[in-house]
Amino acid sequence: MPTSPIGRDTPRVDGPLKVSGKAQYASDFHFPGMLYAVPVGATIANGRVLKLDTAAAQKMPGVRAVFHRENIGKIFRSIQGPGFAGIIDERRPPFEDDVVRYYGQYIALAVADTFETAKAAADVVRVTYAEEKPNVDTELKADDEPDVVATTFSMRERLQSQRGDADAAFTRAPVMLDQTYVTPAETHNPIELHATTAVWDGSTLTLYEGSQGVFNLRGILAQMFGLPIESVRVITRFLGSGFGGKLWPWTHCPLAAAAARQLGKPVQLVVSRKMMFQTTGHRARTQQRVRLGATAEGKLVSLQHDYVYHRSMLDAHHEDCGEATAFQYSVPNLRVTFGRAKRNVGSTVDMRGPGAVPGLYATESAMNELAEQLNIDPVRLRVINEPKIDEELGIPFSSRHLLECFELGAEKFGWSRRTPAVGSMKRDGLTLGWGMAGCTWIAARFPAEASVQLRDDGTARVACGTQDIGTGTYTILAQLASEKTGVPLGKVEVALGDTSLPEGPLSGGSMVTGSVVPAVFAAADSAIASLLTVATGTPGSPFEKRNPDELAFEDGRVFVKADGAGAAVPFADVLRRANLRLVTGSGKSEATFGNPKPKFSTHSFGCHFVEVTWQPEIARLRVSRVVTVMDAGRILNPLAGRNQIEGAVVMGIGMALLEHTSYDRRTGAPINSNLADYVVAVNADVPPIDVHFLDFPDMEINALGARGIGEIGLAGIAAAITDAVHHATGVRVRELPVKIEHLLG
Ligand code: MOS
Repeated sequence: MPTSPIGRDTPRVDGPLKVSGKAQYASDFHFPGMLYAVPVGATIANGRVLKLDTAAAQKMPGVRAVFHRENIGKIFRSIQGPGFAGIIDERRPPFEDDVVRYYGQYIALAVADTFETAKAAADVVRVTYAEEKPNVDTELKADDEPDVVATTFSMRERLQSQRGDADAAFTRAPVMLDQTYVTPAETHNPIELHATTAVWDGSTLTLYEGSQGVFNLRGILAQMFGLPIESVRVITRFLGSGFGGKLWPWTHCPLAAAAARQLGKPVQLVVSRKMMFQTTGHRARTQQRVRLGATAEGKLVSLQHDYVYHRSMLDAHHEDCGEATAFQYSVPNLRVTFGRAKRNVGSTVDMRGPGAVPGLYATESAMNELAEQLNIDPVRLRVINEPKIDEELGIPFSSRHLLECFELGAEKFGWSRRTPAVGSMKRDGLTLGWGMAGCTWIAARFPAEASVQLRDDGTARVACGTQDIGTGTYTILAQLASEKTGVPLGKVEVALGDTSLPEGPLSGGSMVTGSVVPAVFAAADSAIASLLTVATGTPGSPFEKRNPDELAFEDGRVFVKADGAGAAVPFADVLRRANLRLVTGSGKSEATFGNPKPKFSTHSFGCHFVEVTWQPEIARLRVSRVVTVMDAGRILNPLAGRNQIEGAVVMGIGMALLEHTSYDRRTGAPINSNLADYVVAVNADVPPIDVHFLDFPDMEINALGARGIGEIGLAGIAAAITDAVHHATGVRVRELPVKIEHLLG
């Protein structure tokens, strides 16, 4: 009896392709006659282009064209569609006007026979500007805006959430905390650069693109080129990650497609690392005021969370820092509001755990500070304020086990040995700091379609037009198909990342796994039903003249229920006898995300316990140990799951101690726009990370009880680290990242 692949540590099925270099990323596709495009970015952040001098560039041998507003041809605007269609953070088509609104905005495009020539040509394009002073101020004050504002996804009330009377309750509260927390602009730095390879065949456009959402990209590009949707195909076989930066289309993609159209040749455009700091999004800078009122015993009586974030001049990505605020703790009086401040920066966009990650940094930091003020243990403070239901929606949680997370985390970490006084814990001559925080993230489903085939050689194929951003989606799909069909993992072919496949979910919101379970299961059931019909309809079949209802399918074999599995026949035999290569089933499942009337509040939960070591003599701060516990439903692949959470914790170390994008006040340029100056956590920064999963399947999400785990690991970790820093050093840093100069005091 083969054992189920669900819940087993399963190495990546695509691992061999990756380590052997056979996995093709967007810029690995090459075509005869393909040309290379390199954009010219504005070197001002505010103003107008007066004149472009392309003469020198055009004269270079091997240069095919230098495109700009006058000769790129038509690139139309796009609009949002129903559901999750038509989403883009930078809506303005490239080159639409001569206004420059952020540093690096594309104003021309050099195309040549080689990448090197195109780069050299782009470098000699001379631009004359009418320059105005850019606004990249880091101090954020909400712009004067109406109470309801348009955002990328939808209209939003700036009074995001309200219950009771938060002001009055705060004023009367025996214990009060009023602090402001700041998170910097952060830039996504996946190893794979953004890239487009655009190929026209008559009026059909194929895009090889690093995309976390191939169907959305297809819809947008079809609009931009005025094409029927079926005339555009987007292929993303592999992604060298994205972290949200590749969720929505960026301007390089229509530029590559337009250049390919104008020249009648395939065109490849790879966005440089430096340009990725300018033109492919970043996490917004946030400034968040948190006010907490509590009783002397630590019961919250009031919570106010007022946040402001920066955005680009034209676009309205919503950084929802209040995503978790209204349900994470029990509090009768609450108010959450937001405001936005326009800056001369490129569009902001989702970045791993958008909204909730900066938001929970603020609210969890405030909880830790309140615990100190009350002189009670920070875990205890959270236990006291654990809600019985989602007080925002007034409905129960589908599965909330945050207290069990704290319990297990505290035990594994040894939290009971913590002595709260600053600098009171030592080991091997180092000062220790211990901190903790809780976290949460959305658990829901996007709509999904999938197909499953059973084939006459005993193999199966599962197809779904979702993407694997490096997180293990190929493997999960293989596991799901194997579970239902009984075909061993090694004999399951997985196809994804292509708009010619059944429409799959965006690789966003950590929702792919939860979303694809019902669609793949339904597709497998449908393929099996088809197989059973074949079994009963094939002359000479042992099941001939039976009714399909009398048959069972288990572990890849067909048998008569009444006879038991003893005389079971492999499905490949059934197909061969019928002279069929394959049977196919399709499956489809609906979204739960965005449901206006949910019966349950569905989220994942978790916590981090962190140790830092501090050497005041040399101002050396290290994260030395992390214990993370996640309540994320049933984990389908614990190996990939742990890997996800470890990666998120590493990113959290970067968020707390290293990452920030700095804009030059004079030019508006992101000045640390390279991997030497934009410092992310690397192996040397990574301590032992002890990840644990609770096992509470959430049956509201799907039949396996699986929620997602890509993003939640980054939520809360920065608050845990800064609390540990305070415990070690006595310094409360409320503006990330923690810098040595903060600690030299
Ligand atoms: Mo995630 S920021 O939804 O890719």
